Amino acid sequence: MSASASITVRAAAKINLHLGVGAPREDGFHPLTTVYQAVGLCDDVTATGELPGWDLRMLVADHVDAGAIPLDDTNIVSRAATLLAAHHDLPVHGQVSVEKAIPVAGGLAGGSADAAAALVALDRLWDARTTDDDLLAIAAELGSDVPFALIGGTALGTGRGELVTPVADHGTWWWVLVPSLEGMSTPAVYQHFDKLFPDASPTPPPADELLAAVAAGDPKALAPLLRNDLQEPAIDLRPDLGVLIERGESEGALRGLVSGSGPTCVFLCESGDHARDLAGALLRVGPEVVLVANGAVAGAHVVGGDRG
Ligand code: C5P
Repeated sequence: MSASASITVRAAAKINLHLGVGAPREDGFHPLTTVYQAVGLCDDVTATGELPGWDLRMLVADHVDAGAIPLDDTNIVSRAATLLAAHHDLPVHGQVSVEKAIPVAGGLAGGSADAAAALVALDRLWDARTTDDDLLAIAAELGSDVPFALIGGTALGTGRGELVTPVADHGTWWWVLVPSLEGMSTPAVYQHFDKLFPDASPTPPPADELLAAVAAGDPKALAPLLRNDLQEPAIDLRPDLGVLIERGESEGALRGLVSGSGPTCVFLCESGDHARDLAGALLRVGPEVVLVANGAVAGAHVVGGDRG
């Protein structure tokens, strides 16, 4: 590509429909059986080659806490660039800007989405032609949720979450998402899980029944099967999340659930109209930000660009 080429890649937030957690492994990670779903709350990553060096910018939506995002080389986008460049023996270069709508430290894998989008964008910008398997391996090195952010849709995750397989999904699933102004640390929630459940089995709980409901596409059948083993530790650390879930359910959600390690809470609805009604009802009683999104949507994919 020429020096002024640009490419924009979109990647979605995830929800865990099932997050079964086992006792920690020797490396400290927890074995998971999880069912991910990508939902239509997305970040866009645009990469251009205009600068000789490396430059990273964040343009954040009003509900995103910009102060919580590092802009140095610890940012997961910079780490993605470093790993991809090393894989191809290239210098890290480009100007990358991230338009963020996915809350930070929210349990929605927003950082993972940015990393996945950056891998796809830089691979194109650098004309590196990384194979899918290599891209997934680099993604796994960046974080447990990054491979899923590449593939999107609805998928089963095993290992520490990084081994992903698409699953049958015949539904359109409507969600109300309620982010929290204050993020939560994923390691802290996992540590609290260990404290609350010192006798957890090394084998995480399976998701077979839930997978059948996802394949069938029936939200009423799915609702009682949603499961998040990090919900109890998250609510123990943040009791307001429990209050919010009860509120959403009493306002008519089929089911409320903490998303991943929290603190975003998600509410399953029967339809788009139901989700919009619930969002309106929740906005009247408290939370400042209430979003509606549906799933499943695509993984990291190109939405724009020019060849300079
Ligand atoms: O893989 P990722 O970097 O996203 O994980 C962040 C942290 O979450 C890990 O350092 C670990 O403390 C915790 N984690 C875990 N088990 C997993 C995934 C994440 O304990 N399966």
